[in-house]
Amino acid sequence: MTDTFGRMWAELLPVGRSASSGGYRRFAWNSADAECRSWFEEQARARGLAYELDRNGNQWAWLGDPQAGGAVVTGSHLDSVPDGGAYDGPLGVVSAFAALDELRERGAEFDRPLAIVNFGDEEGARFGVACIGSRLTAGVLSKEQAYALRDADGVRLPDAMERAGYDPAAIGADQERLARVGAYVELHVEQGRYLTEEHPVGVASAIWPHGRWRFDFHGEANHAGTTRIEDRRDPMLTFAETVLAARTRAQLAGALATFGKVAVEPNGTNAIASLIRGWLDSRAADEPTLTALVEEIRQAAYESGERTGIKVELTRESYTPVVDFDGPLRDRLAGRLGGVPVLPTGAGHDAGILASAIPTAMLFVRNPSGVSHSPAEHAEERDCLAGVAALADVLEDLACLQR
Ligand code: GLV
Ligand code: MN
Ligand code: MN
Repeated sequence: MTDTFGRMWAELLPVGRSASSGGYRRFAWNSADAECRSWFEEQARARGLAYELDRNGNQWAWLGDPQAGGAVVTGSHLDSVPDGGAYDGPLGVVSAFAALDELRERGAEFDRPLAIVNFGDEEGARFGVACIGSRLTAGVLSKEQAYALRDADGVRLPDAMERAGYDPAAIGADQERLARVGAYVELHVEQGRYLTEEHPVGVASAIWPHGRWRFDFHGEANHAGTTRIEDRRDPMLTFAETVLAARTRAQLAGALATFGKVAVEPNGTNAIASLIRGWLDSRAADEPTLTALVEEIRQAAYESGERTGIKVELTRESYTPVVDFDGPLRDRLAGRLGGVPVLPTGAGHDAGILASAIPTAMLFVRNPSGVSHSPAEHAEERDCLAGVAALADVLEDLACLQR
């Protein structure tokens, strides 16, 4: 198992990695994404699995008859956030192939189909909406909504897809495919510091509700050297006050609010900005807290805008309600793994999106520093191997004849 995991890990490691930052830039339909996709297809074919590309560009590798129904599916995603780490996503896909290898070594006999999946565009780094592949499949993002998405250069999602050689006309809800799936189990690097050396693998209980909101602050462009302070309509000030308010209100609510992406027009050192776009990512343990928090941040932004002569507009770009993972499946995993921690997470996942349609569950692998969405993200190899063994145990329980 060490060999197959290590070999796959080493193959993927250089793909899409920036030489300057050491982080990954695997964005939907770019060349690094294409390399990852070729790698997935090779892994499938090398194992004699039936390779399938679904209508939304998600990749599937099947052992057994895909049409038989009741399939057990595992996997994750291969794309990254800007300058993301190596583990978020790829750990789940590599572990899935390694767990299948392990089951074959164990001589396991499958009594239902098993599939390994790579969901496209999980991070939403390019088009702003996370989990596009699974959202389309589950029907929670419509074809029309997907067609309206554009990247930072104005490229429409269907055009990007077409340029990469995929057919955008086909995208949309895929109930027929989901009906073939009995359970989806996603292994993922943990993104906090809740697992210990003693317990490097945990089971997910829930995902916090979360969403993305875009604030547009409209001001007036003017000369940085000649415009009197009292004559300025500077949206940067309103934006700054909104960032501070978000931080303070989130802390008071015991929730999270982050402005991690900003676009400035015209973006000149010696010009007062005309427009600031700031993207808020906010999350909380429950939906009323999240709704109240975003409303407080909105009010703070509008009040600041009134004081500073700035027009503020707010657009919700995506929203994911709270996910409580399927109770019986969660308990079955925890029971099979015996006394492992069961923990919630603030991070979004394809398993969370699919939870509205099919039974889903997640395994987490220890992240010693808790750092994620950063080149510094790390997991120890022995913990990753413990994750593969746990995933193999779970798949054996769900998909194989019991001996
Ligand atoms: C996905 O990683 C997210 O939670 O943003
Ligand atoms: Mn992520
Ligand atoms: Mn992820």
